[in-house]
Amino acid sequence: MTTDPLDPQSIRKDFPLITGREVNGKPICYLDSAASSQKPQAVLDAMDRYYETTHANVHRGVYTIAEEATALMEEARGKVARFVNAPADRGVIFTKNVTEGLNLVAQTWGRANLGEGDAIVLTQMEHHANIVPWHMLAEQTGVELRWIGVGDDGKLDLSDLDRLLDGAKLLAITAMSNVLGTLTPVRRLADAAHEAGAIVVVDGAQYTPHLPTDVIELGADFYGFTGHKMCGPTGVGVLWGREDLLEAMPAFLGGGEMILDVRLDGWTPNEIPWKFEAGTPPIAEIIGLGAAVDYLERLGMADVREHEVTLTAYALRTLKERFGAGLAIHGPSEPSERGGVLSMALEHVHAHDVAQVLDQDAICVRASHHCAKPLMRVLDVSATVRASFYVYNDTDDVDRLADALDRAAEFFAL
Ligand SMILES: Cc1ncc(COP(=O)(O)O)c(C=O)c1O
Repeated sequence: MTTDPLDPQSIRKDFPLITGREVNGKPICYLDSAASSQKPQAVLDAMDRYYETTHANVHRGVYTIAEEATALMEEARGKVARFVNAPADRGVIFTKNVTEGLNLVAQTWGRANLGEGDAIVLTQMEHHANIVPWHMLAEQTGVELRWIGVGDDGKLDLSDLDRLLDGAKLLAITAMSNVLGTLTPVRRLADAAHEAGAIVVVDGAQYTPHLPTDVIELGADFYGFTGHKMCGPTGVGVLWGREDLLEAMPAFLGGGEMILDVRLDGWTPNEIPWKFEAGTPPIAEIIGLGAAVDYLERLGMADVREHEVTLTAYALRTLKERFGAGLAIHGPSEPSERGGVLSMALEHVHAHDVAQVLDQDAICVRASHHCAKPLMRVLDVSATVRASFYVYNDTDDVDRLADALDRAAEFFAL
């Protein structure tokens, strides 16, 4: 049995909500990090410190604290760039979340480069954030959407890949499914897409918080992720893009910050990345995200991944032993092929009922379609109960989950 390289018991002490909060008189068992992770004190402190000592608007003032605020924000950009091995800071655009990043690509690169007769290839296991922007683009431009299927094993069915990519101009894929936990073979798909003449957009929302990320190694042309799932605050996300693509494509939102000049007869866009950052950015949140990156780097992303593989293996084994066929777990059965996301169906009990019973034991899980309705239709379910792990979870959390599932099964026994 592999040992856990992290020490979740001591990591928990960094997260005030995890150690401090009780629900129904019981300590919280937070198993919903795939929706949003909890925040370490270091991130809360970085944001408080900024507001208490350095707050001013960025990129405008010439006075000391305005320059300090700008420096802090741009320092965070550098941290984020290094965290995902981006070749230069200028390829890192701060957005509101990954949803905005994906919309940005669709509405700028997409509108400028795609039209009738072109095709976009997606997978059936995408989050709505990586589906709806392309549907909207298809409605605007007539571009065709094609879909890579998902097999019974929870993995992508790549048997038809060459045909799907034939004539495609863009491949948009998640690096890890938020429902099945499936890790996508991003590099293999990116190589095939490039061979076919398509660019590659990767939704890294579930990947970057949990695995070492290298946008170049993955073969991405655009790569988006979201701060609140990786110990950072809400309100900030990242879109990394290849600089030549970012330079060539039109701006997204218009306003202050994103211009070099504005005249009565027109305007000139700013340089990248600011060309894509209209208006006052979420300065405190960006600084908080920088602190989250520092925090995760201190833990070590390779260790974060190993911790989650170990914990997922324990969870799959424990739940199988205790429930057998009474609890279906979707997605790949091999822990190394998946992330720490377990979508479950307890026999004869609706997902929402399970989640409510679990809440009585202060266990936070998500019961929903997880913003992946096309995948729910493939799985032929309306909702699943999803437990997801992060750096502060350990085997005790899995045991509490299993005990509570037992109680739910008993409570709703036919
Ligand atoms: C795979 C995936 N993509 C995109 C998103 C959207 O993230 P956000 O709401 O932060 O934009 C999520 C969030 O659940 C996700 O899991």
